[in-house]
Amino acid sequence: MRFSLPPSSEITPEGVYLNRRRFLATAGLIGAGLVGTGSIHALPPRDEAQPKPLGKPYGLQPGDTPTSWEDVTGYNNFYEFGTGKEDPAEHAQGFRTTPWTVRIDGLVEKPGTYALEDFLKPSVVEDRIYRMRCVEGWSMVIPWRGIMLADVIKRAKPTSKAAFVELTTLMDPAQMPGQRYPVLDWPYVEGLRLDEAMHPLTLLATGVYGRELPPQNGAPLRLVVPWKYGFKGIKSIVRIRLVERMPRSSWMQAIPSEYGFYANVNPAVDHPRWSQATERRIGSFRRIPTLPFNGYADQVASLYAGMDLRKNY
Ligand code: MTE
Repeated sequence: MRFSLPPSSEITPEGVYLNRRRFLATAGLIGAGLVGTGSIHALPPRDEAQPKPLGKPYGLQPGDTPTSWEDVTGYNNFYEFGTGKEDPAEHAQGFRTTPWTVRIDGLVEKPGTYALEDFLKPSVVEDRIYRMRCVEGWSMVIPWRGIMLADVIKRAKPTSKAAFVELTTLMDPAQMPGQRYPVLDWPYVEGLRLDEAMHPLTLLATGVYGRELPPQNGAPLRLVVPWKYGFKGIKSIVRIRLVERMPRSSWMQAIPSEYGFYANVNPAVDHPRWSQATERRIGSFRRIPTLPFNGYADQVASLYAGMDLRKNY
C-alpha cells in the first residue's frame, strides 16, 4: 500500500517551503554542508530536544518507560502525509492548525461549531502516560496531554437515540498530499460505541510530552483510546457526530476482512496476516507479550461482557 509522494516543493505551501529552505540554509544544512555560521544556534538546546515526560502513569507495567520524544514524534502513521513511518514528520511540517474549528452534531440537543479554544476551554486538561499498541505489532509508552472525550459529549447533551460516536479528520488535499491518492476513502473516519467514548480513559489529546501536539501526531486534536489498536486514534479531528448506528470506519471500508469496528487489543485473536501475541517496544529490540485490552482489562473488560471478542474484533 505504499505510494510515493511528489517532491516537497510541490506538496508544501510555497511560503512554508521557502521558509524551510531559508531555515535549512541558515542552519548551514544546504549547499555548504555544515559550514554555516548559524548551525549551532539553529539547534534547540538539549533539554528542549528531549523534553521530560509529564503526567500520571495509567496502567503501566513493570519495565514500561516512556518512549523517547524522537520516536514518539518521528515514527508515525498518518497516511494523509504519506505511508512511510518518517513521512508524517517530514511532510506535515507547516500544516496549519490555526484557526481550527470543531463541529459536534448529530443526535445531540446542543449541536455547535466551535473555535478549538472555546471547544476545549471549560475542560480540565490532564497529563497522562498511556501504553499504546499499533495493530502492526509495535508499541510505545506515550505521555499525552488532553481532555476527556466524555466531557465534550456531555456538554452537547446526546439524545436517547445516540448510541455511537463518529469522528472525522480534516479533508484538505492541498495541505494533506496523501489525500490526493486513493489509499483510503478520505477523509479518515473512526467510531466508538457511546459507552467507549464516555469511558474516563478515552482522551481527546491536544499535546504530548507537555507540549502542543506536533502536526505528525495529529495536531491540533486527536483521539487516544489506550485499550484499542492505534488506528482508532484518529488525528486532526474536525467533526464529532453522535449517531444511532455503528459508523463505518475508513479501515473497515478499506479492508473489511482485516479490520473490525472494535479493534480491542487482543493477543488471542490474530490479525489474518500475522500474530498479535507479542509486540516490539519502539526504542528497544525486545518483544514483549501483548496484554488483553493492552493492559487496561480491569478498567474496560466489563464494557464487552457477554460479547464474543473473536467475532467482534
Ligand atoms: N489518523 C488519521 N487521520 N490518519 C491516519 O493515517 N493513522 C492511525 C492513527 N490515526 C492515522 C490516524 C494509526 S494506524 C496509528 S498507529 C496512530 O494514528 C499513530 O499515532 P502516532 O503517530 O501519534 O503514534
